Amino acid sequence: MTPADSDALRFPDRFRWGTSTSSYQVEGAVSADGRGESIWDRFCRVPGAVENGDTGDVACDQYRRGAEDIALMARLGTGAHRFSLAWPRIQPDGRGRVEKRGIDHYDRFIDGLLAEGITPLVTLYHWDLPSALQDAGGWRERDTAKRFAEYAAVCFDAFGDRVRDWVTINEPWIVGLLGHQLGLHAPGEEDLKASVTVMHHLLLAHGLAAGELHARGRDDARAGIAYSLFPSVPDDPADPADVAAAAGSDGYVNRWFLDPVHGRGYPEDMREHWERAVGELDFVRDGDLGTIASRSDFIGVNYYTRRIIGAGGGDGPWPWSVRPGRDDVERTGLGWEIVPDDLERLLVRLHRDYPGVPLLITENGAVYDDGPGDDGAVHDERRIAFLDGHLRAVHRAIAAGAPVEGYYHWSLIDNFEWAMGYRPRFGLVHIDRATQRRTVKDSGLWYGRLAASGVLPPRGGAHR
Ligand code: FCB
Repeated sequence: MTPADSDALRFPDRFRWGTSTSSYQVEGAVSADGRGESIWDRFCRVPGAVENGDTGDVACDQYRRGAEDIALMARLGTGAHRFSLAWPRIQPDGRGRVEKRGIDHYDRFIDGLLAEGITPLVTLYHWDLPSALQDAGGWRERDTAKRFAEYAAVCFDAFGDRVRDWVTINEPWIVGLLGHQLGLHAPGEEDLKASVTVMHHLLLAHGLAAGELHARGRDDARAGIAYSLFPSVPDDPADPADVAAAAGSDGYVNRWFLDPVHGRGYPEDMREHWERAVGELDFVRDGDLGTIASRSDFIGVNYYTRRIIGAGGGDGPWPWSVRPGRDDVERTGLGWEIVPDDLERLLVRLHRDYPGVPLLITENGAVYDDGPGDDGAVHDERRIAFLDGHLRAVHRAIAAGAPVEGYYHWSLIDNFEWAMGYRPRFGLVHIDRATQRRTVKDSGLWYGRLAASGVLPPRGGAHR
């Protein structure tokens, strides 16, 4: 029997309730302690690249306020936190020399989390590539995958005694699409062949790094990618052309990454699309697919919304196009459709297509612009409703057998949202940009109570 919204739902005992951030989006302090320049430092300086001329120079100043933010998490009562290491803090030149002050910083941060009983989930690459590597060609170059494996090994040696779970790469599709195809993210390239090359090198980097991790012999250590997964829904489900178009778009966005990592190679249908668009995929060398598939221990699911796809009307080189969302579906403050049912279907489908692979929801969240009212509190009821809807969907997926181990809400705190600057607010914690003052939103208090009890209250009801 499907539970009703009026039911309280108990989650599995060991379910991890977490929050999520990334280095460039929260740290600031971009020249502190020998940090090298990253491609985002540079991109933010390109006129018009980021709304309002915003940069990550200060962000949430978390590099300096790490202890305060850990105390916040402890106050919330969440038991897990996903964050990323800034490669240019650890290897300012992207290769060779290791900056001890960068290592010391993350040592303190990890120890601080553990002291509060918060389990770290560490991302190695959340988009802040050292500029020195970009100058040598960045992810277009195969060598960058090797440099990444070297950097990963440094991190495993430094933190692997305390960190068990590692996200190697965040969202390879978005890096290819926004960074190299559309020029909307760093490094700002617009080159279709470069984008597919980059995506391959990111997968290769993952495979090499996972190999480094497992060569170190900590049996319980795990590595996985956090994918930007967008369910593709046919515009007209009764029209075979739209159904085929949605399957194509799924190949482009989702299967192109999941299939090779889980041993199925690049999907043939999408390979044909790519070859028609850019010619031979000559950057795929013998043995690469073996490396990419060598071992992944979980699937990181970043889920925000779906894509409605229709045949023809091509976006770029593909024989399909993204259609507007439905009028009767609610939207977040960024206009993204809110469709928890698609998260449920996605999780069940991952379980079906990649059986036995643990699933971690590494990102999910929504923009709402609520700020402190006269009473000083932030009454972001819409975010609570968003959370409630998505967590009910997760619960249904678990009941259907999907091995979902945890949920990391994006984001802990309002932060630097890439090309949109500071405008979108995704946080469970509000930040006052002028003073850096943090205020836990009602959603943060609600989420903390959920984390403590493991029980989702009836919709609109209170936690017991
Ligand atoms: C994802 C990114 C994350 C954040 C959210 C809103 O694509 O991984 O850094 O920007 O979107």
